[in-house]
Amino acid sequence: MALLFFGNADRVAEWLPELRRAMPDRDIRVWPDAGDLSEIRYSLGFAPPEGVLASLPNLRAIFSTGAGVDGTLRDPTVPADVPIVRMVEQGLTEGMTEYVVMHVLAWHRDLWTYAGMQAAGEWRKLDQTLARDRRVGVMGLGVLGEDAARMLAALRFDVAGWSRTAKEIPGVACFAGEEGLGPFLARTEILVCLLPLTAQTRGIMDRGLLSRLPRGAVLVNVARGQHLVEEDLVALLDEGHLAGATLDVFREEPLPEAHPFWRHPKVRTTPHIASITLAPSASREVARQIARFEAGEPLENVVDRARGY
Ligand code: NAP
Ligand code: GLV
Repeated sequence: MALLFFGNADRVAEWLPELRRAMPDRDIRVWPDAGDLSEIRYSLGFAPPEGVLASLPNLRAIFSTGAGVDGTLRDPTVPADVPIVRMVEQGLTEGMTEYVVMHVLAWHRDLWTYAGMQAAGEWRKLDQTLARDRRVGVMGLGVLGEDAARMLAALRFDVAGWSRTAKEIPGVACFAGEEGLGPFLARTEILVCLLPLTAQTRGIMDRGLLSRLPRGAVLVNVARGQHLVEEDLVALLDEGHLAGATLDVFREEPLPEAHPFWRHPKVRTTPHIASITLAPSASREVARQIARFEAGEPLENVVDRARGY
């Protein structure tokens, strides 16, 4: 009943002790030292190498270290009958909400403009807007989007959210589906993307969608780089339709040295760290799920393969 972990040397050094602490009786192996493949019942990783999961004849569940499972699903050979469990864990949720709140507040209170003014030795006061008069929109009202939206609402922002199916969240104006997208975008001054990457959402933030935001709007993308058509964002920033962007995720990671985002004056980047899955609590979550599963209870947070998330 072994568990096979996928990760580079740094990840292995971080995760292995935590997995062993959380599951002291479990045989935990690290790819590619998998031993007898027929003994592997569970896998855990962000983007296992293509074909490996299909080579495990007795695999019972595929655990993702990420909330997003696009890294797992990009392998077309992943067995269709083995459940994929995405990471849902309080630390991951809290980390994301901290990051979103930090960047929404930074744009809302002109932090980057004041930083530039300090660098230029310029003393000047900009107009101040209260959060209650700032309209923030969160695309994706799942585990992470809902928590971020609730926290922004608690800070008195005028918050809306957009999802595939209709929602009711206190303090958040909820829009859904294709018909809800237009009105949602039209009222959004700071757009936060927390969608999963699926066939429907790949490239969703293109010129067409971003142009429907009011002039001077800002984007905070913390979902996946492939949600954004990067050239369209650069063009809209340069044309002045958009005022700025915080980008944590990119089409190519690490962000290539020559990429314009590194030096664009209206772009703030971070290296895909908006919320990092923390090995101690995530290992305990995997142990909890396996214990449930082996006791005959259903796994939680199983990905719907047809939806892609
Ligand atoms: P989730 O719980 O699965 O929520 C996904 C949300 O997106 C749901 O509200 C869903 O609508 C909505 N959605 C999906 N497809 C849609 C569509 N076509 N149109 C409109 N709404 C759609 O996911 P999560 O746990 O919140 O995570 C979201 C994403 O965050 C992950 O997939 C991952 O890519 C990203 N992430 C990034 C980092 C980072 O460090 N940058 C860390 C963690 C996660 P319904 O509610 O109607 O189903
Ligand atoms: C990170 O990007 C995740 O999906 O958890």
